[in-house]
Amino acid sequence: MDTVVVAPSLLAGDFARLGDEVSAVERGGADWLHLDVMDGHFVPNISFGPAIIKALRSRTKMPFDVHLMIAPVDPFLAAFRDAGADHITFHPEAGPHPHRTLQGIRALGMKTGLALDPATPVEHAAWALDLIDLILVMTVNPGFGGQAFLPSMLPKIAEARRMIDASGRNIRLQVDGGITAETAPLALRAGADTLVAGTAVLAHPDYGQAIRTLRGVPSS
Ligand code: DX5
Ligand code: ZN
Repeated sequence: MDTVVVAPSLLAGDFARLGDEVSAVERGGADWLHLDVMDGHFVPNISFGPAIIKALRSRTKMPFDVHLMIAPVDPFLAAFRDAGADHITFHPEAGPHPHRTLQGIRALGMKTGLALDPATPVEHAAWALDLIDLILVMTVNPGFGGQAFLPSMLPKIAEARRMIDASGRNIRLQVDGGITAETAPLALRAGADTLVAGTAVLAHPDYGQAIRTLRGVPSS
């Protein structure tokens, strides 16, 4: 398997000092920064948008892994690209034409991700694999940090892994929601290779230790 990518979510950070949180996450050894954008319409919570992301761009070299929980998506893609997004992940329920949205993200020079809600079948990705760089299996319902991991998603992670392997394509398999020292090994064993973690990293007193634990590096 590919090396594990750890993408801490800034949603669990201190919003009064976001720039310092980004630096601390990078110092802790994170691979990507996961940025959860919520609009209070597609999901029942509001977080932040392109202006905040743009303000943080100069603080780090980490790729910005932007998870859009907004509807519609298409009119905002250029704004997120201009803000410094490297990857855009969205939910197929956010609009009528997910394939077109994938094309739009690629056309703007970003990597694509398709996020699957707990009840959304893996098949949503099946006929767009040539346009997908990342499949996100949500292990909670989107909208809030700090929720409990849904173990019922483990067979779904395994199914997504089989689909990716059968395709022979270079597609990352990300999990997001309730990822902790206890649940990360379950998700990795089921086939995930990319871990989003909000609370488990940013509510931990030592971000570096938390990231190493998720990665599976034994603590000394
Ligand atoms: C949930 C977000 C997650 C969230 C994860 O809608 O997509 O990225 O920040 O938070 P934890 O790791 O606390 O479950
Ligand atoms: Zn997320």
